[in-house]
Amino acid sequence: MAKQIQFSRNGGPEVLEIQEFTPQDPGVGEVQVENKAIGINYIDTYIRSGLYPTALPSGLGTEAAGVVIKTGAGVTGIKVNDRVVYAQSKPGAYSTLHNVAAEKVVQLPTAISFEQAAAAFLKGLTVHYLLRQTYEIQPEETFLFHAASGGVGLIACQWAKALGARLIGTVGSAEKAQRAKAAGAWAAINYRHENVVQRVAELTNNKKVRVVYDSVGKDTWEASLDCLQPRGLMVSYGNSSGPVTGVNLAILNQKGSLYVTRPSLDGYITCHDELVTASNELFALIACGAINVDVPERQKFDLSEVQKAHATLESRATQGSCLLIP
Ligand SMILES: NC(=O)c1ccc[n+]([C@@H]2O[C@H](COP(=O)([O-])OP(=O)(O)OC[C@H]3O[C@@H](n4cnc5c(N)ncnc54)[C@H](OP(=O)(O)O)[C@@H]3O)[C@@H](O)[C@H]2O)c1
Repeated sequence: MAKQIQFSRNGGPEVLEIQEFTPQDPGVGEVQVENKAIGINYIDTYIRSGLYPTALPSGLGTEAAGVVIKTGAGVTGIKVNDRVVYAQSKPGAYSTLHNVAAEKVVQLPTAISFEQAAAAFLKGLTVHYLLRQTYEIQPEETFLFHAASGGVGLIACQWAKALGARLIGTVGSAEKAQRAKAAGAWAAINYRHENVVQRVAELTNNKKVRVVYDSVGKDTWEASLDCLQPRGLMVSYGNSSGPVTGVNLAILNQKGSLYVTRPSLDGYITCHDELVTASNELFALIACGAINVDVPERQKFDLSEVQKAHATLESRATQGSCLLIP
């Protein structure tokens, strides 16, 4: 029998329940994937908590890697038994089987395992658009990236190194600082104990940076603006500490004629061609060893341990990506 995670009210990890379900056949343009490894993303906690409202009851999760076991009408280019990975699916990837629009699916190179793919896909596509499109990071460029030892963060450290850029990463512990630096961060700031604005000024000889990538949100918003050069770009792309609200636009003027963007993956991967282009760049970096996304055993959770997985992620205890194993 197929199994899936569902929730019928918003709240903490305790609202997540595992249940059996009878899968429907894939619809037109869909494939049915037997999931082998499922990516856990911080956005899943926003949907569970209600920060991002959704119709209830609902499944959860948009990313997994596995094997195609059925194809719906009109699907070309993907066939039964193909090894694949997907992101941006309709909710319900936290499951043993999921019907996914074929345009959200790409073939997985043999060099990349299901676990590596599920650990890297959504997060790596995010780093791709952040560093390559939202603002094109140049070799030698110094920039600030918050939560640098998280799932997105460790990929960003490695991608920055591959580009020859200097990523200054913020982190919540000394151990995480070491991990970010080992992954390729040029410098790390422990924002629980150090003043981020002061440290960025010191590290850049008071020049500050042209771009800040901020997924922490509420707690770091103002410090991030203070780390920017005049006309610099603030990329606010997440809410790990809570959303940024009530912004008076005049603050952008006061802090140096700044630019702000609030991007999401859906705004950058809008069709299959864009997905394939970004995935190929990501897979090449994984296959050549420039990006390592191996997940430690302690961050792999059985599907039935989903409550523990969410609680662990939200407690800031993890480094790199977390997986559910169906
Ligand atoms: N817009 C997009 O397209 C997009 C796509 C993917 C992800 N995101 C965002 O990117 C961020 C990272 O996602 P992820 O899945 O890789 O998660 P993650 O970085 O592995 O986990 C979140 C990290 O945020 C930091 N954090 C800071 N303040 C926190 C707080 N009050 N509570 C909890 N964590 C806090 C923690 O690291 P420290 O202990 O080091 O502070 C924590 O480990 C999330 O905000 C997510 O929403 C956005």
